[in-house]
Amino acid sequence: MCGIYGYIGKEKALFHVFDGLKRLEYRGYDSSGIAYVDKNGKIKIIKSIGEVENLKNKINFCEKSNLAIGHTRWATHGKPDIKNCHPHFSEHFALVHNGIIENYKDLKSQLNYKFYSETDTEVIAKLLEENYKKLINNSNKEISILNIIKNSLDKLKGSFAVALIYKNNPQNIYVFKKNSPLVIAKNNQESFISSDINAINNCFEYYSLSDMDIAEIGENYIKIYDENLNLINKKKIKKKALNYLTSKKYSHNMLKEINEIPIALEHIYKEFQTKNFFNISKKIKEYKNITIVGCGTAYHAGLYGKYILEKYLNKKIYSELSSEFKYKNIIINKNDLVIGISQSGETADTISALERAKSKGASVLVITNTPNSTMTRLADYLIICNTGPEFGVAATKSYVSQIYTLYGLACLSINKKINNSVINSSKKLLKEIDKFEFCKFYNKEKFFFIGRLFDSVTAFEGALKLKEISYVHSEGYCAGELKHGTLSLIDEKSLVIAIITQDSIKEKTINAIHEVKARGAEVLVITQFKDFKQLDNIIELPLIEEDILSVLSIIPLQLFAFNFSLMKGLNPDKPRNLAKSVTVE
Ligand code: AGP
Repeated sequence: MCGIYGYIGKEKALFHVFDGLKRLEYRGYDSSGIAYVDKNGKIKIIKSIGEVENLKNKINFCEKSNLAIGHTRWATHGKPDIKNCHPHFSEHFALVHNGIIENYKDLKSQLNYKFYSETDTEVIAKLLEENYKKLINNSNKEISILNIIKNSLDKLKGSFAVALIYKNNPQNIYVFKKNSPLVIAKNNQESFISSDINAINNCFEYYSLSDMDIAEIGENYIKIYDENLNLINKKKIKKKALNYLTSKKYSHNMLKEINEIPIALEHIYKEFQTKNFFNISKKIKEYKNITIVGCGTAYHAGLYGKYILEKYLNKKIYSELSSEFKYKNIIINKNDLVIGISQSGETADTISALERAKSKGASVLVITNTPNSTMTRLADYLIICNTGPEFGVAATKSYVSQIYTLYGLACLSINKKINNSVINSSKKLLKEIDKFEFCKFYNKEKFFFIGRLFDSVTAFEGALKLKEISYVHSEGYCAGELKHGTLSLIDEKSLVIAIITQDSIKEKTINAIHEVKARGAEVLVITQFKDFKQLDNIIELPLIEEDILSVLSIIPLQLFAFNFSLMKGLNPDKPRNLAKSVTVE
């Protein structure tokens, strides 16, 4: 998490960095800050709590500066207050950091400094200072900043991308990284750094740093060194254009993104026609075992993938949380395929899970929405969902796209025609739900989402959406599980949302509805079946092939969560404590 942005070039460094931080705000928004070099060559620091916008009032945009580094924070160590907010500093260094220094406590106890913050990041500033002093005492020659950085870097454990300004040489930005992305870009007479390539616009050269690389950046040059401080000739990377699907104005990103679902599906349907997609769909059958990994919503998409691939390929498919997969005893080898699903392509847990799979010899298929992301570089096979950037913290169109992608893969692998009526049906459904009065459930206090098989996945995802942006307690259950414990929680304060799209098990979920109604719960049913006319609350889904109805059944639940969040006076785009891209483990 956390966003890093830096600029070196003309006079408008403060403007560029503020602007870049706004684009990176999805990575964290509990505080932000900028360190810049003023016209006298002095390092100045500005910090602010809350959204990046709050920083605006503290910046004098007329002040000339040609170098600045900035940070938007998602707190890991220490609460979001001014002292913990980045940039952090020591006598000779000001820096911003993304990631976690795992051995920060050990380092803190070894370093004889007074610490002003609770962060792991301040340790980096003090460690650099310590190495500066050591070098100055042991040498009467001019000391090299690269050696100071290298000696410090060697002591750090964990994941980090760091950008720093050095008091003795304020004409450059220095960066280094391990297990956390950092990109450098160049134009005529100006250079940029960012933790997300997509936050940098209109440059003609882009470089992605490898772990342990150190770079020195000037306004018209970039020098990259390996861990032994040998200057390396880094290959440029290509920045693929991101597709902004619609320019239509909506009150919130989340609402915009839900309404982009039909176009997103169209884009994926086009992807199904490509040779790459066809080849991958044929290839997956050759693998002995297939495991799908992901986190949060992407994990739920993986669960859908498990059900659909098991059904069509008729073999056992495994679905795992990335954060568990990377630590458990995995039995995996070169005959196996691991599919990583991720909107951002930067989720640390999924990156580690895929790296682990690769280290065991397995092949990796990445399904992501973000073309230039870290995961794309780990992939043996790659599918870009191409649904346009998603800024709302709650994953909506990306989830639907992941499900459709997995459905498409499953169909093509057995030569089944891919259903595309889902595209028009999603448009129809969006229009219909607009009329639904979600407000009638706002007095409820407990929310349970239930379903079986494919519908259980929708139930898990619906519950996650609601708790994520409305802060109400909600649970997703396989409908058959209610009676094994959770039923004791059901009373008249409960709303039970039942998703029923699978004919073969419809009756079973109806039993669960009777059970909760008998205990006083109100029920909302999401279904395409006509059998529920007698119930008060129904959202009717379009009649399409059951196997792909999961693409549609989640839409009302996304809108339910969105409306609930608004009703509570919250901002659904920026839920507390969360960030769009979770780049820490
Ligand atoms: C979903 O609404 C969440 N914001 C979260 O669960 C997210 O899906 C998860 O962190 C995985 O992100 P990724 O798809 O970018 O890997």
